[in-house]
Amino acid sequence: MSLDGFVAGPNDSPDNPLGDGGQALFAWYNSGDVELRLFGTDMVFKVSRVSADFLQDTWNTKGVMVAGRRMFDIANAWGGHPPGGGPCFIVTHHTPQEWVKEASPFVFVTDGAESAIRQAQRAAGDGLVSIGSASIAQQALVAGLLDEIHIDLAPVLLSSGVRLFDKLGVAPVPLQQIRAVEAPGVTHLRYRVVK
Ligand SMILES: NC(=O)c1ccc[n+]([C@@H]2O[C@H](COP(=O)([O-])OP(=O)(O)OC[C@H]3O[C@@H](n4cnc5c(N)ncnc54)[C@H](OP(=O)(O)O)[C@@H]3O)[C@@H](O)[C@H]2O)c1
Repeated sequence: MSLDGFVAGPNDSPDNPLGDGGQALFAWYNSGDVELRLFGTDMVFKVSRVSADFLQDTWNTKGVMVAGRRMFDIANAWGGHPPGGGPCFIVTHHTPQEWVKEASPFVFVTDGAESAIRQAQRAAGDGLVSIGSASIAQQALVAGLLDEIHIDLAPVLLSSGVRLFDKLGVAPVPLQQIRAVEAPGVTHLRYRVVK
């Protein structure tokens, strides 16, 4: 996330996944010398030792992700290999029939974010459920279903684009800081949502 709260710049699309200027958010992904794999994908990043040690427990662990339809489309369905290893729950109004097939890692949920998160919790059992897009994180927070917020804060101001916490409609949302780790090119922050 940028210091002014954006997770993508304007004009995001499958050809421009992080929007105009948004690449600056991920500069730290490939500016270190320690390999960090995103579980379930073939994506390997080169981050600093500090970032690798800190992120290991969430990035390199099997889990179930919930995301919105824009993220699914912009990521080109992660090539069929969503982060976490699947299943992956996509909240949408319109199910893309080409992904409804045996062995598809995707479950399309058309009755709302809350339903998707509850289905993901059942699928994950004791494992991690992560939220992979902004609008779904907002809906999870408002529904009281978000336990923690993990931010990788990049040293950039984007000024416009996709805000992580836009139009929440609830305030204040009290948070308890769990960790703050300064790493080269990024500050890792974790908060617990106080309920
Ligand atoms: N910087 C980072 O680390 C990072 C990480 C993740 C994402 N991102 C960025 O975040 C952006 C994607 O997030 P986003 O918030 O714009 O979109 P999103 O959450 O991925 O998708 C929003 C779409 O999901 C569907 N949807 C959402 N809530 C729904 C509901 N309750 N019922 C039915 N359908 C629902 C709707 O699509 P339909 O009506 O078309 O079905 C809606 O337009 C991208 O720009 C991506 O690059 C950045």
